Amino acid sequence: MTRTRVIALLVPLLLAGCTAKRNPASLSAADSTRGGDSAAIVLQAAPVGHILTYEERQGSVLYAKYCAVCHGKEGKGDGFNAFNLDPRPRDFSDSAYMVALSDGQIIQTITGGGRSVNKSPLMPSYGWTIDRSQIQYVAAYVRTFVYGN
Ligand code: HEC
Repeated sequence: MTRTRVIALLVPLLLAGCTAKRNPASLSAADSTRGGDSAAIVLQAAPVGHILTYEERQGSVLYAKYCAVCHGKEGKGDGFNAFNLDPRPRDFSDSAYMVALSDGQIIQTITGGGRSVNKSPLMPSYGWTIDRSQIQYVAAYVRTFVYGN
């Protein structure tokens, strides 16, 4: 390989490296300019633009796989299987209901199914399908639907 060829190959690689490094730096620069006057705007936007935590993101993958068929992609209890079910799957975007529902009840429902909390046996149990931390992740994600995620 000639020298110019090596350089021609290296230059794009180096440039790619630089831009990859520059992105996080420019993000944090933008963040640090927030605050002061713009704090009110950030507060107003918070409920709509809820950013998922690590746990919630893990939970969203599990939710899509196991729960969305009944509870719906947006948690409104309108998955494609929902019309078959009476009572209907719970609507997780119903904030009045969800505020009254404890974390313990959500976790028990997922682990032991509807029957274990005196609800519909059509709500399946996942205690043998996913492990305890996965149940906590999906329970955390269920909580985010009140933000309209
Ligand atoms: C086969 C359909 C179906 C699937 C799949 C399903 N659910 Fe349900 N779920 C239901 C039904 C039906 C109810 C309503 C039970 C009732 O109100 O009696 C329910 C209720 C619930 C409740 C509310 C319990 C309460 O006390 O009000 C939670 C929380 C819940 N499901 C979580 C989940 C999670 C998380 C998953 C996925 C891991 C899931 N469900 C998968 C059908 C389903």
